[in-house]
Amino acid sequence: MTTIGSAPGATLETLAAALERAHRDRTPRSRALYERALRTLPGGSTRTATYYSPYPAYMERGAGCRLTDVDGNVYIDCLGNYTSLVHGHARAELVAALASCGARGTAHGAPVEAEIALAEAIVRRLPSIERLRFTNSGTEAVMGAVRAARAYTGRPKVLKMEGGYHGSYDAAEVSVDPGAAPPTWPAGRPDGAGLSPGLTGEVLIAPFNDLPTTRALVERHRQELAAVIVEPVMGAAGVIPATESFLRGLRAATRDAGVLLIFDEVVTFRLAVGGAQELYGVVPDLTTLGKVIGGGLPIGAFGGRAAIMAAFDARHPEAISHSGTFNGNMGTMTVGRVALELLTGPEIARINALGDRLRAGMQAAADAVGLPARVSGVGSLGHVHPSRARVSDYRSASAAASRRISALLHLGLLTRGVFIAPRGMLALSTAMTDADVDLVIHTFREAAAAVADATNAADVTLHTGGELS
Ligand SMILES: Cc1ncc(COP(=O)(O)O)c(C=O)c1O
Repeated sequence: MTTIGSAPGATLETLAAALERAHRDRTPRSRALYERALRTLPGGSTRTATYYSPYPAYMERGAGCRLTDVDGNVYIDCLGNYTSLVHGHARAELVAALASCGARGTAHGAPVEAEIALAEAIVRRLPSIERLRFTNSGTEAVMGAVRAARAYTGRPKVLKMEGGYHGSYDAAEVSVDPGAAPPTWPAGRPDGAGLSPGLTGEVLIAPFNDLPTTRALVERHRQELAAVIVEPVMGAAGVIPATESFLRGLRAATRDAGVLLIFDEVVTFRLAVGGAQELYGVVPDLTTLGKVIGGGLPIGAFGGRAAIMAAFDARHPEAISHSGTFNGNMGTMTVGRVALELLTGPEIARINALGDRLRAGMQAAADAVGLPARVSGVGSLGHVHPSRARVSDYRSASAAASRRISALLHLGLLTRGVFIAPRGMLALSTAMTDADVDLVIHTFREAAAAVADATNAADVTLHTGGELS
């Protein structure tokens, strides 16, 4: 292991420069690819989440929980394509499943048995889902669930949580990250340019984990609300679990108001055989899924009570026409089913325990080296917040956030061979062992120590009247 940037007296600025230099030195081929990408992709990127400064490492392959970049650097993958690769990379059974259908064609423009088999596997695990439809992404799953809720209730509006991420489309992109002075609930702020101007009237915003306020909003707007959509554990906002009382109270409030409750389990399904709804003992009306259920291929699904999903029954002329060229394609359906078979209760318990160990180890490491940090999460999911403050919702997470410290931790880990999300998110896989977790904790301690030293040096500079750049 190197000791990049941990020179005594390093400031945040010198640490950032040292880490950037280390990254550039290790990744000349990635840099060349990035420069090539700049000529065809805006900012050189086709997925905002995968970009980080000065340029991302380009991957050449993945095997188990290891990624190898185009320069031959090896990383422990603690992200798994943003939680979707719960079995790591290129697991033999999944490769075989893909190969088995590849030779028969991947998509046929007609139904295949594999879509029934995956639907059956999902329905067995999630009793709240009586009928479901497949899509190609979690975004489309959310679009479908919201459409189903509007069709069933005849009402136009949706209430989502501030900081809740439900994919990349208009109604989902309100108040995901509304900044330091967010509007007063239930008003929201569209995230960025180009969204429909009517959006703020359609989407109401509530504070996560604040039952009295959220319940009052549901009651006040019951005549116009089709659904409340919530992640049982807010992912993008910093892997923040809902309290049991919040989810249970929300279930009761929506039921009383005749408003549908949608659980977005695109990320949290991995937490238990029956997803977070089993963990919390709360039964939603509709659920959205994605990521792990595709076994590494693009997927989404939405489903719930048969009476609600009947809106998509194509035998009826007035049914909602819901299509997608690759919905239910044989490749994804086949690989997804095998991935679910491998995601057994004992395996979930094992990676959840690894996650408990990882979070505790990282927290202890941060505390030991004097880095103010809080490692949040549940089961096989985690997030490093660069502050000791308690994080329970979007506002507390964003008050605790420091893009600069998170970027230094990310680059510090990357240059030492640990791959996490630039914003600090972690997800473990069944490909991992205790030894991998120990190595991640050890490496995190080094990266955190360098940041802590630089932060303290910056404090000294500040207290002596210097500039913190
Ligand atoms: C909770 C949640 N919902 C929906 C989505 C959208 O899924 P996709 O990226 O497959 O469109 C995501 C993606 O990260 C997510 O985290």
